[in-house]
Amino acid sequence: MHDILAIAGSPSVSSRSSAVLAHSTGLLEAQGLQVETFTIRDIKPEDLVFANFESPELQKFTTLVAEAKGIMIATPVYKATYTGILKALLDLLPQYAFLDKILFPIATGGTITHLLSLEYAMKPLFAVLGATHIERGLFIVDSQMQRLDEGGIQLDGDIETRLQDSLLGFASAIKAKKP
Ligand SMILES: Cc1cc2nc3c(=O)[nH]c(=O)nc-3n(C[C@H](O)[C@H](O)[C@H](O)COP(=O)(O)O)c2cc1C
Repeated sequence: MHDILAIAGSPSVSSRSSAVLAHSTGLLEAQGLQVETFTIRDIKPEDLVFANFESPELQKFTTLVAEAKGIMIATPVYKATYTGILKALLDLLPQYAFLDKILFPIATGGTITHLLSLEYAMKPLFAVLGATHIERGLFIVDSQMQRLDEGGIQLDGDIETRLQDSLLGFASAIKAKKP
């Protein structure tokens, strides 16, 4: 059984935010935590657009959310907020799906302009789904990361340190959480 569900909210096949999510997953697994990943590309677009509650992929996603102690969500900033397709997925969850979960938001953006989208967009969305424990999370600008030829991503030293520190706090909170 997993401890954390990592959700990738970018529609891009070569997604920066998803690469940061995968990197973060590796760091959490190194802390002895089990992480499952679900990306919005794992569900048919028409199931999202037409709110198909019978979708097997949606039902799997809902179960993965229910069974996790922590939820880590990475999204690119689109038009000053999370992606519409991530919202379409979260719209299909039960009303209080994040009740009693620890949330960790990650956003990537082209510039620092929408740094506060974590505060004015992501955190209220998590709260409406019942979350009361939301970690500070991290906003990363595209210029602070480089893609590696062998796949994956390299973050600038400062942001890598901040990510590691933040994830250590998240991992400790998950470990301290009663089953
Ligand atoms: C449709 C679209 C809208 C975007 N809107 C913004 C924006 O409002 N603010 C911003 O800082 N970056 C914006 N960006 C840039 C992306 O947030 C940024 O490049 C991000 O790291 C891409 O992540 P991804 O590769 O995971 O999709 C936008 C990019 C796209 C494709």
